[in-house]
Amino acid sequence: MEKKVTVIGAGNVGATTAQRLAEKELCDVVLIDIADGLAQGKALDLAEAAPIEKHDAGLVGATSYETSAGSDIVIITAGIPRKPGMSRDDLLKTNMNIMKTVTAEAAARSPEAVLIIVSNPLDAMCHVAMETSGFPKNRVMGMAGVLDSARFRTFIAAELNVSVENTHAFVLGGHGDTMVPLPRLSTVAGIPITQLLTEDRIAALVERTRTGGAEIVGLLKTGSAFYAPASAAVEMAEAILKDKKKILPCAVYLEGEYGIRDLFVGVPVKLGRNGIEEIIEIKLTDAESAALRKSADAVKTLVVDMKKLASV
Ligand code: APR
Repeated sequence: MEKKVTVIGAGNVGATTAQRLAEKELCDVVLIDIADGLAQGKALDLAEAAPIEKHDAGLVGATSYETSAGSDIVIITAGIPRKPGMSRDDLLKTNMNIMKTVTAEAAARSPEAVLIIVSNPLDAMCHVAMETSGFPKNRVMGMAGVLDSARFRTFIAAELNVSVENTHAFVLGGHGDTMVPLPRLSTVAGIPITQLLTEDRIAALVERTRTGGAEIVGLLKTGSAFYAPASAAVEMAEAILKDKKKILPCAVYLEGEYGIRDLFVGVPVKLGRNGIEEIIEIKLTDAESAALRKSADAVKTLVVDMKKLASV
């Protein structure tokens, strides 16, 4: 293939991401994991499915980073997944150290790559990845909003008994309990859901979206969601690989946009060949702005905690 994407972490999210990238024939895929044989085994298994799935994407697995050299995109899913009852923030220290190691290894070999971070706690991990890689802010982003919006869309479609394809939803803010779904800009065939559903029902769907990750963790009992997170990461990668100029909500580094500075927060951006090509500023109501600021404050707390942990 013309393009190459490295996926770090060959666990549930990483392996599913590799599968979707290959089956959509978007690129060759290098799958990397610290666990000996895991990435190699999954890559080989996926490669052996290729004749049946009818694609020619190359798939290799490795524990080291040499084969990742020259990647167009590096998707980082390495980390420890959230267990039931565990908050994303509990994961902070372990995943921070993992993120530092894998980012340094990958960035050294693919200095022109776009980094898509998936590991949680997402917004904090994006900071680590940007600091460690030294990449410009247009080439470091976190996957959260696409997943959160997809969850909201799923619930809207089920509630109204319409195709998910008719739904559109925007979710801003951090990937956590303070995320900010925007019902007034969420539509079904162009009609705002505020004209189709009662306030109570919208509030219920918003709440389910907000706790969507925890709902899956509670059901799975071991591990967290991976099918939808992988789909979301692949949608972002596809927009970049195909230079689609697609507007998607992503966690990006803000420097004054939406009144937020020096923090990764989820906002709509245009994705193309150069990564984040534009941050789209939409006019928010006072209540929405306040909710977004609250969400940004939660990210800030996490970043401060992380800096404290890093100095211990
Ligand atoms: N280098 C490479 N791989 C690593 C490293 C490391 N330093 N540390 C851990 N890993 C690998 C693990 O060996 C494991 O295979 O990361 C993989 C994580 O996979 P899972 O445990 O299956 O977790 P997954 O469900 O894929 O979630 C990964 O994405 O959605 C987030 O919260 C989730 O942070 C978590 C991440």
